[in-house]
Amino acid sequence: MAEHNLQKIDLSEYPHINKGLDGIVAFSTTKSFIDGQSGDLIYSGYHIDTLAENATFEEVCFLLWNDRLPNKQELDDLNKQLRNKRELPEPVLSYIQSTNKKAEPMAVLRTAVSMLADFVDETEGDNSYAITLTAQMPTIIAAFDRARNGNEIVAPLNEGSTAFNFLYMLNGEKPGEAAERTMDLCLVLHAEHGMNASTFTCRTICATESDIFSAVTGAIGALKGPLHGGANTAVMKTLLKLKDQGDDADPVAFTKGKLDRKEKIMGFGHRVYKTFDPRAVHLRKMSKTLSEETGHEYLYEWSEAMLKTMKDEKNIDPNVDFFSATVYYSIGIQPDLYTCIFTMSRVSGWTAHYFEQKANNRLIRPRALYVGEKNLEWVPAEKR
Ligand code: CMC
Repeated sequence: MAEHNLQKIDLSEYPHINKGLDGIVAFSTTKSFIDGQSGDLIYSGYHIDTLAENATFEEVCFLLWNDRLPNKQELDDLNKQLRNKRELPEPVLSYIQSTNKKAEPMAVLRTAVSMLADFVDETEGDNSYAITLTAQMPTIIAAFDRARNGNEIVAPLNEGSTAFNFLYMLNGEKPGEAAERTMDLCLVLHAEHGMNASTFTCRTICATESDIFSAVTGAIGALKGPLHGGANTAVMKTLLKLKDQGDDADPVAFTKGKLDRKEKIMGFGHRVYKTFDPRAVHLRKMSKTLSEETGHEYLYEWSEAMLKTMKDEKNIDPNVDFFSATVYYSIGIQPDLYTCIFTMSRVSGWTAHYFEQKANNRLIRPRALYVGEKNLEWVPAEKR
């Protein structure tokens, strides 16, 4: 028998394990800065409030990819490229039409994005692929939603903003200015957010020298989970569960009950923010206005009641996903599409991080502390 006289692990070699990589700084970046104490967020030099008031999603894409705002000509060029790339390759469209209508939209988006890699022109390069990904994700999402509801797929227009065209493809009619602006602002607010789980996944895949489609596909998988981007859909499910209770709906008792059972309330809490998420400030205002305009005031009121209960009971504030749920609901979007909308915005941040990682790469390879047995003897199967 082979002799492997391995010693017990010397724990002093590993002073501590950072569960969830909490507090670990793994990269430097010019893409975004978060002050979790003051509740400030900056994309490549510009405060999120400034961008929310002034920028379009396309300007934010350029900013994240180039670390500066575009001039008029550059913005026109980017808009033109995005519009020209909106149509999906035929096999991707066929996949969307033929897949299970009950599939999760995020799963369909993940598969379709992965397929896009098979149809790109190899001479184009990453900058062009980032534009392809940004241009085609809205087409994938809208096409699947139409197909699963038995509606004809609406081809993208070669005009209008990303937000305008997405709503057009989703609903089959051109949106008004207010709806376009709402969607555009949501895209601006979700574009980039430091070393979150999906961006870390994207950079980890990039660091193996894998391609940008693989990195974005992996990032979609990470974003899909309810502790990350999947929380917005989960928030809406919570509010709809309350709605099902009719006159008995009591958001305060509901929240307290969940806390008593040690359950998480989706849309609250954050690893970095120890105060109100600055994106939630904007979404809260939008949620109030839109829910009043569309007769869903009760959803906004319940949200406020939950917010107060979470503050009083746990001193935990809402994150970006809490009020975005009622914003999307008020403009008529199906709850299981909310995380897809997050994705079609965050692709700008992911691809910006892909470029940054590639320009200064090192394989990402942390260690794990092995705490299992080491000197077990082999026992044949029939004797175990
Ligand atoms: N509901 C109830 N309690 C909470 C919540 C919540 N949403 N969030 C945190 N806590 C409590 C948690 O139970 C723990 O309490 P205790 O110390 O008594 O055990 C304490 O706060 C710390 O929580 P944690 O889970 O260890 O914190 P974390 O930094 O590991 O997790 C989080 C951050 C976002 C995963 C977590 O707050 C959470 O699960 N929130 C709900 C899901 C959610 O809304 N996710 C979206 C995040 S923001 C958008 C994005 O990045 O995608």
